[in-house]
Amino acid sequence: MKVMILGADGYLGWPLALRLMAKGHDVIGVDNFATRKSVEEVGSDSAIPILGMPDRVRAAKDIHGYKMKFHEGDITKYEFLHKVIKEERPDTVVHFAEQRSAPYSMINAKHASYTMSNNIIGTINLVYAIMELDPKIHVVKMATMGEYGTPNFDIPESAFVDADINGKTDRITTPKFGGSWYHWTKVHDTNNLLFANKVWKITTTNIFQGPVYGTRTKEITDEKLHSRFDFDEVWGTVVNRFCAEAVLGIPLTAYGAGGQIRGYLSLEDSMEALNLLIENPAQRGEHRTANQFVELLSINDIADIVKKAAKKQGIDIEVQHLDNPRVEADRHYYNPKIKVLPDLGFKPKLKMADLAPQLIKDLIPYRQRIERFRDRIMPHTQWRRVENAR
Ligand SMILES: NC(=O)c1ccc[n+]([C@@H]2O[C@H](COP(=O)([O-])OP(=O)(O)OC[C@H]3O[C@@H](n4cnc5c(N)ncnc54)[C@H](O)[C@@H]3O)[C@@H](O)[C@H]2O)c1
Repeated sequence: MKVMILGADGYLGWPLALRLMAKGHDVIGVDNFATRKSVEEVGSDSAIPILGMPDRVRAAKDIHGYKMKFHEGDITKYEFLHKVIKEERPDTVVHFAEQRSAPYSMINAKHASYTMSNNIIGTINLVYAIMELDPKIHVVKMATMGEYGTPNFDIPESAFVDADINGKTDRITTPKFGGSWYHWTKVHDTNNLLFANKVWKITTTNIFQGPVYGTRTKEITDEKLHSRFDFDEVWGTVVNRFCAEAVLGIPLTAYGAGGQIRGYLSLEDSMEALNLLIENPAQRGEHRTANQFVELLSINDIADIVKKAAKKQGIDIEVQHLDNPRVEADRHYYNPKIKVLPDLGFKPKLKMADLAPQLIKDLIPYRQRIERFRDRIMPHTQWRRVENAR
């Protein structure tokens, strides 16, 4: 199969390129290196050094014998995206190429509007290019579990639900309530994909994924093949941030009471799940929704796991509960359904408690590097901008 990955230089994009090439697929990467630039903009860097794309491609060839094509460019430029899809004629396009940090989107108006335009225009360009060039191409779009928020109902694995409104029933799109401007861009993307499917029958798999953690996949066997690993308050997701804090021996920065529950999965399990969804495409003309996570954990559960994992490396750390910079419930109901992936044979290999000691061990050699950005760990980006906006 020929697979184009938009966002191939990212945390998920690079390991997915390696996984798909290991499975014998042809991979064409596309990226404009926005994440590298935006992480630098907030004064941070990947904890683990990563090569530039030409060197990454060379390393994949030297180490594993994989041949990958790459196009540098911005998918919000329609002519560019149209041209690469026309030239390459992929069977599947995986769309990861979005601004993916919730705090980054909340910094100020400029960052919010960049996130809105980058994410929404990129996705609109993709569905237009596919409609014009070949509607048979399978779009695998990375949505996020964060689109749903934390509702008091069981989160279904479907784009639509039946609703009874004032005694009349109809099918409506599954209710969502994003927790940042970033999450709302993903909700808007989901709505736009549903409409593209309705009017043009674009074949889509929309993946509602929880936060991913970890440094390793089966193919990351050499430091030249590492994926990025962000840990600062803007770009680091909670598990990766906690592990970097553990390596520095500083308290884990738990936001609020720590009862926020999400569905987590390791980088390796994420790659396996994505591979299954790509190799088993949605039916022609279908809009398929897949929830993607492995275990439901609260911030306090994660802090406990990382604390115990650090102890195994001889590091004693405390957990510090900070005023929550975000506006979110820190005690709530949470029960997302998951069936599509298990039905395709998805069997998660790793639980966070098994993987955390290895993750910390992998970061220890980069302690000096993480130390350089220590002041970027405490939360500065506040969701509440007006004193009484509670
Ligand atoms: N990492 C997670 O835990 C997680 C969880 C749920 C959903 N997601 C989603 O998965 C996708 C990938 O996430 P990630 O963690 O790999 O993020 P990432 O920022 O590491 O990767 C995204 C890549 O897309 C590129 N990009 C952004 N805008 C672009 C544009 N206009 N044109 C071309 N390239 C562009 C970036 O340079 C980057 O390399 C994102 O859509 C994110 O919202 C991630």
